[in-house]
Amino acid sequence: MHKTKYVKELNLQGTKVLVYGNPSDLFKDAAKELFKTLKRKPAANIGLATGATFIPFYKLVSSRYKSEGASFRKASTFNLDEYVGLEKDSKESYHTYMRTNLFSKIDINSRNSHVPDGSSKDPEMEATDYERKISRHGGIDIQYLGIGMNGHIGFNEPKTPFSSKTHVVTLSRATIRQNSRYFGKGKMPRLAITVGIGTILKSRKIIVIATGNSKARIVKKILTGRPNKLIPASALIGSRNVTFMLDKNSAALII
Ligand code: F6R
Repeated sequence: MHKTKYVKELNLQGTKVLVYGNPSDLFKDAAKELFKTLKRKPAANIGLATGATFIPFYKLVSSRYKSEGASFRKASTFNLDEYVGLEKDSKESYHTYMRTNLFSKIDINSRNSHVPDGSSKDPEMEATDYERKISRHGGIDIQYLGIGMNGHIGFNEPKTPFSSKTHVVTLSRATIRQNSRYFGKGKMPRLAITVGIGTILKSRKIIVIATGNSKARIVKKILTGRPNKLIPASALIGSRNVTFMLDKNSAALII
């Protein structure tokens, strides 16, 4: 790693914050961490996020993994969340997002790519089963996270206990505002299944990515305040296994 890639490097009680001058360097480093994990542990459990932030990441991962000597053949992936009430093959589901942006482009065995089933007749039971599935596999080796406009991680909305496990959540107004653009007017689901904050915190390594001006205010709140339940991503501060990777736009208010 060359120092010049970074506009700023911070250490917040053990948590690393890297601010990149150029988002393409950010995504290259984020992908390198994944390739490194897969080479060290081919049967790794990888925690994945969806959303606009991760589109360039998945593009890079799928185009580079082979030349980097990595393979997903023995790996398992666990997505963070899914909307309740959407069929797996619906256009807006995270199942479809993952298939389109990553799973169809890598050598993963489809039996090993897990996303909560939002179409389950019993979403509470699905959440409990998903939590068990993660722990049966031995927990997450590397977890990727984006940040919502209200500081959510996964779909853990403000006030979610930091010890929460996978659960059904009522989406906040801020999240409905953030993601309504993907649905027709009034069509966005109000409930989702999300891996809990407590489950996320048990991951052996966590990489949090934020890009773009629209994240600057929440990034500042997360990184300059004290951990508190009103800002779910603040739960990550103080852990040595967490790295924030920010572009200079999302970090504009802290550099
Ligand atoms: C989605 C997820 C969410 C998003 C967050 C940011 O799986 O975990 O927490 O990461 O809402 O979304 P974008 O990237 O669309 O700004």
